[in-house]
Amino acid sequence: MVTTTRTIIEEYTHRRPRSAELHARAARVLPNGVTHDKRWLRPYPAYITEAHGGYKRDVDGNELIDFVMGHGALLLGHGHPAVTEAVARQVPLGSHLGGSHELEIEWAEAVARLMPSVEKVRFTSSGTEATQMAIRLARAHTGRPKLLKLHGHFHGWHDAVTKTQAPPYDRQSVPGVPKPVSDQTLSVSADVGAVEDALRRDPEIAALILEPSGAGYAAVPLPEGFLAAVRELTSRYGALLIFDEVVTGFRWAPGGAQERYGIHPDLTTLAKILAGGLSGGAVAGPNVVMDLLEHTEDAARDADRRVVHQGTFNANPLSAAAGVACLRVVADEAPGAIAQVLALRLRIGINERLERLNVSGCAWGDSSICHVLLGVAVGNRTAGDLLRPDLPPEILKTKGSNRRLAWLLGLAMANEGVDLFAGSAIVSAVHTEQDIDHTLDAFERCIHRLQAEGEVAER
Ligand SMILES: Cc1ncc(COP(=O)(O)O)c(C=O)c1O
Repeated sequence: MVTTTRTIIEEYTHRRPRSAELHARAARVLPNGVTHDKRWLRPYPAYITEAHGGYKRDVDGNELIDFVMGHGALLLGHGHPAVTEAVARQVPLGSHLGGSHELEIEWAEAVARLMPSVEKVRFTSSGTEATQMAIRLARAHTGRPKLLKLHGHFHGWHDAVTKTQAPPYDRQSVPGVPKPVSDQTLSVSADVGAVEDALRRDPEIAALILEPSGAGYAAVPLPEGFLAAVRELTSRYGALLIFDEVVTGFRWAPGGAQERYGIHPDLTTLAKILAGGLSGGAVAGPNVVMDLLEHTEDAARDADRRVVHQGTFNANPLSAAAGVACLRVVADEAPGAIAQVLALRLRIGINERLERLNVSGCAWGDSSICHVLLGVAVGNRTAGDLLRPDLPPEILKTKGSNRRLAWLLGLAMANEGVDLFAGSAIVSAVHTEQDIDHTLDAFERCIHRLQAEGEVAER
């Protein structure tokens, strides 16, 4: 608990002198001193030394409840015994076997058993690689060049999907991506009419790719019935439907969003929980599409139609060992359901406190995700759970677009021992009710501090 007269920023730096030193060093060799856009933080990020279960500790000895959870990879928390044991068993046997191995078969079998639409799996090293390969497969399968995506939906950082990740959505150019390349990607709002319009007008569209949670892991929920409608539309217009289940896979349900909503995509992309907290991704789907990756005896035919795919670390044995162990827990214990109950408690608790403190903003989300925004009046906020705040998609995507407030809330929560991920909490199955209640008390104290600094007013 913070009891000082320092400002939020002063408190943050006061508690992190060693991180300040490390950041000064990092800034000389790493752009912005970081290795991921979302880790960029003013005045500087905390440098983490170790993590266990639902917690982590920084170099200055600050203990944090971790709601970043490996960017969503750690549904089972840090160092789950089954995952740790599987990796430890594999390390002395080799981190790269330079050939096929049994664990990759088990890993693919686990995916195919869990995900309703999947017959075959091709492993990659990341979610970005998975969406890149899914798009290539869709293009090869349909013989069409273009991709349709939705405003605000995130699919990694390769050329085809970087456009319209965030508002303003009419911006067509992407630094570093040649215009003719980015012109191959069309983007529309998550509106059935807009999707149909695009598909009808452009017969060159190979696929529609989307986050089945809505943009930003449920930050911008999809309209009711949207997934069923685009399933029908893509089939009708001969385009493939790609569910990017990098976040929702094994979290929304053991079989991902496709199991929860009962809608089968033509291709699925996976990463994060898939590899149990190590690096790894996959593209998966029915044989009719996945077989485009297969060699045949006919070299001339293969040269015309086969989709090539290499990757030094595809299905590396350490990721495979962790993935197999993790998916076994997913199948046996439904950890997503445990995390979901905790996230619900967090969302309801935050909304209750905002209501009681008469402060504008809300907590919302789906599954085990809790998004928070402050400083925006929400019409339909009640002291309860909120799937669809009555706010424009751009506001939801940017969490209120009051960057200063979101930033200060993040620092204030860190001072209180809670690490959020860009204004959101990704809850795991190893967090506890006590963690959630501590977080709620911390949140309330942060609101008081923000009020004391004149950053937040009563409604
Ligand atoms: C929905 C979605 N797709 C793709 C990606 C990219 O995955 P990776 O970071 O493993 O490249 C992410 C990453 O957060 C994601 O959230």
